[in-house]
Amino acid sequence: MPATIVLGAQWGDEGKGRVTDFFAEDSDFVVRYQGGNNAGHTIIVGDQRIALSLIPSGVLYPDCTPVIGSGCVIDPKVLLEEMDMLAGRGIDPSRLRISANAHLIMPYHRKLDLMLERHLGSNRIGTTKRGIGPAYTDKFARTGIRVQDLFDPDIFRAKVEVALDEKNRVLTRIYNQIGLKAAEIADEYLAYAERLLPYVADTALLLWEGLEEGKKVLLEGAQGTLLDVDHGTYPFVTSSNPTAGGALIGAGIGPGAIEEVVGVTKAYISRVGTGPFPTELDDETGDRLIELGGEYGTVTGRRRRCGWLDLVALRYAVRVNGLTKLFITKLDILSNFQTIKVAVSYESDDGAHVEFPRQHRVLYNCRPVYATFEGWGADISAARSYDDLPASVQNYLGFIADEAKTPIGWVSVGPERSQLVTV
Ligand code: IMP
Repeated sequence: MPATIVLGAQWGDEGKGRVTDFFAEDSDFVVRYQGGNNAGHTIIVGDQRIALSLIPSGVLYPDCTPVIGSGCVIDPKVLLEEMDMLAGRGIDPSRLRISANAHLIMPYHRKLDLMLERHLGSNRIGTTKRGIGPAYTDKFARTGIRVQDLFDPDIFRAKVEVALDEKNRVLTRIYNQIGLKAAEIADEYLAYAERLLPYVADTALLLWEGLEEGKKVLLEGAQGTLLDVDHGTYPFVTSSNPTAGGALIGAGIGPGAIEEVVGVTKAYISRVGTGPFPTELDDETGDRLIELGGEYGTVTGRRRRCGWLDLVALRYAVRVNGLTKLFITKLDILSNFQTIKVAVSYESDDGAHVEFPRQHRVLYNCRPVYATFEGWGADISAARSYDDLPASVQNYLGFIADEAKTPIGWVSVGPERSQLVTV
């Protein structure tokens, strides 16, 4: 039963898009298991840059079935636009399958996301403002509206009315906004229903049958370990579980199917939004990482915060996900630096931390302890095998694998599909 999980080992933006694209080529199913259109990945195919926020990258391969699992939240307008964009570029999105149990992002979720961020002021999370948090809030409050509700118009209208009765009170009385109209929302969404119906399925059953037949399933996480609502830097997290456990829940398959859990980590680290970041470089080196690495968000265009690779956080990701292999991305960006650092532990007033601190206050005022490497001063973007990499690069990679106690399976040395080294 060969299923592989690919997930972010950092705060998202690790380059998972190109990694899943790499694995998708050999997969029968590629499943998004959580999140919504807060994610974004760009895949470079020949001279085309394809930016996807919801549809799994498996859509690019004609033999692969892309699946949006029940753990996701779906903005149907965005989904249909993405399908149209693909069709316009000659990529057939008709194999897509959407879980009937996935929750819908409604217009009031987007509005409430904005209002809550405004209300939090300097304590804001820095969300993508796509309505993700409020949609998951309703899911867990059991007042959410699911994809399957779209196909029972009377029930759908009734659910929107019940939901709006409460949301409009919050919007008008607490946030001083104009309320939304239930009939307008229902009309808009029921029009999407017609187009979505052919793609909606019992995706857990589909995957079960596939696994029984020995088909290969790739489970693709969005965001990253440190943005996990349980295991991340709460409250500066997303509202779902990008970690490996979330893959099982969000796809609806059991743990026995999982063969490999691949953690994707950049050779440095970045985060968007607010929240603690021990190795953040608020200096010229940080600016160079941002510019050389093109660290601007695919979804929001926001400038990412950058810093040196953090092995305390990486060891944590290995642990909470049970990572079996690492996939290191953007190693070529470090070729531009004379000195390269990697945090191996943190020092704080209450002592040294080799493990990710239980008390998150420590993350704000700890001092990273760095191992320093001399830069390799060579262009590695043409390397295609481990032996093509200079000894100093191999030494650097060996250090990461030893410290993380996890083998490195692959390293990317440039944005093209071919710029990859299998270790
Ligand atoms: P939300 O997911 O829009 O609620 O945002 C919550 C936090 O997760 C914010 O700090 C966002 O910047 C961050 N976030 C959400 N999606 C991504 C992503 O795909 N990459 C990186 N950060 C993300």
